[in-house]
Amino acid sequence: MIKVIQDHENCIGCGSCAAICPKFWEMNYEEGKAFLKTAKKNERGKYELEVKDVECNQEAADCCPVQAIKIL
Ligand code: F3S
Repeated sequence: MIKVIQDHENCIGCGSCAAICPKFWEMNYEEGKAFLKTAKKNERGKYELEVKDVECNQEAADCCPVQAIKIL
Protein backbone atom coordinates (compact mmCIF):
# COMPACT_ATOMS: atom_id res chain seq x y z
CA MET A 1 0.00 0.00 0.00
CA ILE A 2 1.03 3.57 -0.62
CA LYS A 3 0.57 6.28 1.97
CA VAL A 4 -0.55 9.76 1.01
CA ILE A 5 0.15 12.21 3.81
CA GLN A 6 -0.82 15.85 4.14
CA ASP A 7 0.77 18.25 6.55
CA HIS A 8 -2.51 20.08 6.98
CA GLU A 9 -1.06 22.84 9.15
CA ASN A 10 1.39 23.86 6.46
CA CYS A 11 -1.16 23.89 3.65
CA ILE A 12 -1.51 27.46 2.37
CA GLY A 13 -4.64 26.64 0.39
CA CYS A 14 -3.20 27.21 -3.07
CA GLY A 15 -5.74 24.74 -4.43
CA SER A 16 -3.45 22.90 -6.86
CA CYS A 17 -4.09 19.49 -5.34
CA ALA A 18 -7.87 19.86 -5.60
CA ALA A 19 -7.59 21.15 -9.17
CA ILE A 20 -5.25 18.38 -10.30
CA CYS A 21 -6.62 15.52 -8.24
CA PRO A 22 -10.26 16.18 -7.29
CA LYS A 23 -10.92 12.48 -6.73
CA PHE A 24 -8.84 12.69 -3.55
CA TRP A 25 -8.56 16.38 -2.69
CA GLU A 26 -11.14 18.99 -1.86
CA MET A 27 -10.81 22.61 -0.84
CA ASN A 28 -12.40 23.91 2.32
CA TYR A 29 -12.68 27.57 1.44
CA GLU A 30 -13.86 28.57 4.91
CA GLU A 31 -10.67 27.25 6.42
CA GLY A 32 -8.56 28.09 3.38
CA LYS A 33 -6.99 24.65 3.25
CA ALA A 34 -7.34 21.44 1.28
CA PHE A 35 -8.58 18.16 2.68
CA LEU A 36 -7.49 14.71 1.70
CA LYS A 37 -10.85 12.99 1.45
CA THR A 38 -11.51 10.16 3.94
CA ALA A 39 -8.01 10.53 5.43
CA LYS A 40 -7.45 9.92 9.13
CA LYS A 41 -5.35 12.07 11.43
CA ASN A 42 -2.20 10.27 12.54
CA GLU A 43 -0.33 10.57 15.82
CA ARG A 44 1.75 13.46 14.43
CA GLY A 45 -1.35 15.45 13.54
CA LYS A 46 -1.00 14.84 9.81
CA TYR A 47 -3.70 13.42 7.58
CA GLU A 48 -2.98 10.02 6.19
CA LEU A 49 -4.66 7.82 3.59
CA GLU A 50 -3.61 4.41 2.31
CA VAL A 51 -4.17 3.75 -1.38
CA LYS A 52 -3.34 0.85 -3.69
CA ASP A 53 -2.51 3.07 -6.61
CA VAL A 54 -1.01 6.53 -6.21
CA GLU A 55 -3.07 7.83 -9.16
CA CYS A 56 -3.09 11.62 -9.35
CA ASN A 57 -1.73 12.09 -5.83
CA GLN A 58 1.82 12.11 -7.19
CA GLU A 59 1.02 15.09 -9.42
CA ALA A 60 -0.69 16.79 -6.48
CA ALA A 61 2.42 16.28 -4.34
CA ASP A 62 4.70 17.53 -7.12
CA CYS A 63 2.64 20.69 -7.58
CA CYS A 64 2.17 21.65 -3.93
CA PRO A 65 4.20 24.87 -3.47
CA VAL A 66 4.93 24.18 0.21
CA GLN A 67 5.54 20.40 -0.08
CA ALA A 68 2.64 19.70 2.25
CA ILE A 69 1.86 16.41 0.45
CA LYS A 70 4.11 13.37 0.80
CA ILE A 71 3.84 9.99 -0.88
CA LEU A 72 5.44 7.11 1.01
FE1 F3S B 1 -2.49 22.98 0.27
FE2 F3S B 1 -0.52 22.13 -1.18
FE3 F3S B 1 -2.98 21.49 -1.79
S1 F3S B 1 -0.74 24.17 -0.30
S2 F3S B 1 -4.13 23.26 -1.17
S3 F3S B 1 -1.89 20.91 0.06
S4 F3S B 1 -1.36 21.91 -3.23
